[in-house]
Amino acid sequence: MSLLSVKGLDVAFGGVPVLHGIDLDVEAGSLIAVVGANGAGKTTLLRAISRLAPARTGSISFDGHDIGHLPPYAVARRGLVHVPQGRQIVPGLSVEQNLLVGASNLEGMDSATLDDLLAAEYARFPVLAERRHIPGEALSGGEQQMLAVSRALMMRPRLLILDEPSLGLAPQIVRSIHGTLRQLTSEGMAVLLVEQVAFAALRISDRGYVIQNGRIAMSGAPDQLLQDPALVSHYLG
Ligand SMILES: Nc1ncnc2c1ncn2[C@@H]1O[C@H](COP(=O)(O)OP(=O)(O)OP(=O)(O)O)[C@@H](O)[C@H]1O
Ligand SMILES: [Mg+2]
Repeated sequence: MSLLSVKGLDVAFGGVPVLHGIDLDVEAGSLIAVVGANGAGKTTLLRAISRLAPARTGSISFDGHDIGHLPPYAVARRGLVHVPQGRQIVPGLSVEQNLLVGASNLEGMDSATLDDLLAAEYARFPVLAERRHIPGEALSGGEQQMLAVSRALMMRPRLLILDEPSLGLAPQIVRSIHGTLRQLTSEGMAVLLVEQVAFAALRISDRGYVIQNGRIAMSGAPDQLLQDPALVSHYLG
């Protein structure tokens, strides 16, 4: 059984359809990539999954439960945590305060657990430890993306969904962030990764989906997709 299962998802804004009949599955411990051009509907898909955007029809189930009617905070509490496009670091808060912002509101979270979670994130990204007292917005782009990932991991997700974490970052930093995602899946977490940079994302994934004009145009094994002439011409053409 899939950890996340989306079936027949339609989303429209003000009557204008944006997503059409999306079917998508994420198995526990897997890294699934969704790639597509500017405006294809990637952000809308992730926002619908984490309940930030309303679905018109279709079903979204997570860990065997229908989450299609839950508010976003309840989805996050169940372990489906969204790293938004553009990172959304809270201005005026330090790196450490940014890390604590989501997790400290979780039920049953005590200060000893928060300390352990912080220590784990500082070990994962030592630069965040060095800079823990400076404002989050003063970090470089790559460091801000690390902070956004760590902030989400503080909520102990079972499924982490990320919207274009590589946007605007140097290839070396993209490789490091993608490497972190692979590491997380080897520890049992599932990852749904949305990227415009199709090749880098597909190369590290277990399965990929290509979204075009709000529809899944292709899906399958990364090797197969990377050899598909239509995909290659679309992205390299
Ligand atoms: N809140 C909204 N209201 C109206 N239209 C929207 C809204 N959000 C997105 N859209 C439209 O939906 C379509 C898909 O947008 P979306 O942001 O999901 O694409 P994307 O694949 O994430 O693009 P990008 O790679 O640029 O982030 C676009 O035509 C966009 O203009
Ligand atoms: Mg987007």
